[in-house]
Amino acid sequence: MADENARIQKILAMKNLELENLLRLESKTALVTAAGAGIGQATARMFAAEGAKVVATDINEASLEILAEEGITTCVLDVTSNEAVENLALELGAQDILFNCAGFVHHGTILDCDEEAFDFSYNLNVKAAYRMTRAFLPSMLEAGGGSIVNMSSAVSSIIAAPNRFVYGATKAAVIGMTKSIAADYVTQGIRCNAICPATVESPSLQERIRAMGDYETSRAAFVARQPMGRIGTAEEIASLALYLASDESGFVTGQAISIDGGWANV
Ligand SMILES: NC(=O)c1ccc[n+]([C@@H]2O[C@H](COP(=O)([O-])OP(=O)(O)OC[C@H]3O[C@@H](n4cnc5c(N)ncnc54)[C@H](O)[C@@H]3O)[C@@H](O)[C@H]2O)c1
Repeated sequence: MADENARIQKILAMKNLELENLLRLESKTALVTAAGAGIGQATARMFAAEGAKVVATDINEASLEILAEEGITTCVLDVTSNEAVENLALELGAQDILFNCAGFVHHGTILDCDEEAFDFSYNLNVKAAYRMTRAFLPSMLEAGGGSIVNMSSAVSSIIAAPNRFVYGATKAAVIGMTKSIAADYVTQGIRCNAICPATVESPSLQERIRAMGDYETSRAAFVARQPMGRIGTAEEIASLALYLASDESGFVTGQAISIDGGWANV
């Protein structure tokens, strides 16, 4: 028993943890956008399990019910609405963690992407993160800092994929924005990083697979993109978001981190 206690104390010391502070986001506040499904939902759940006081937001009220039933605070938020974002920032005040997860995958080349589709993708994938950060950053700065995590993609400035013209452009812009914010506030306690996943299991991925016709063939094509021969899970991406949100990544900022089953490596 004494040996076991000594072993546990050694592990805690190695991880810079104390017994009463075992949870990785203990006493932190976190806001997650697009938390009604997929990566956002898994991340809101993981942040809460690690002790954060989470506000899980989504445009779709019904999609938030499952998190509300688990005891997580939920709130309807359309990240394309300036007014809604500014009101929520005033209501909530400083957050330690801001996870800008909302995004949309447009299918097609430049010739399939008219101005309306172009503007829609930029508004949701890029401008929403800009809007959220503009609204929440002043109070984060006043509170002494925080961690902003933006959702990019492997399909961005990292690699291209067929029929992902405006999606790739927006996700590359997210990386540029992330790096700029990180550079501007690095001395003021703000860290800003981007997550760049390959194909991840989610309701919208299911829709994309169904939209392509033959389900099994289309799914196989999505699986084949990753040299690991599988699709990632939302929980795997949430684990990276958790690392970037927590103090464990205190020396990490301005990074676009790939989590892609080896896609960008080949
Ligand atoms: N799933 C993947 O393969 C994959 C890969 C790389 C990056 N991503 C990125 O991860 C993020 C989440 O994708 P996902 O596939 O996990 O989830 P998803 O696309 O299945 O669900 C996204 C959620 O966003 C919400 N949403 C849509 N418009 C909104 C708005 N205006 N305001 C607030 N919420 C809104 C939806 O209601 C939904 O609950 C996106 O930015 C996506 O581009 C996903």
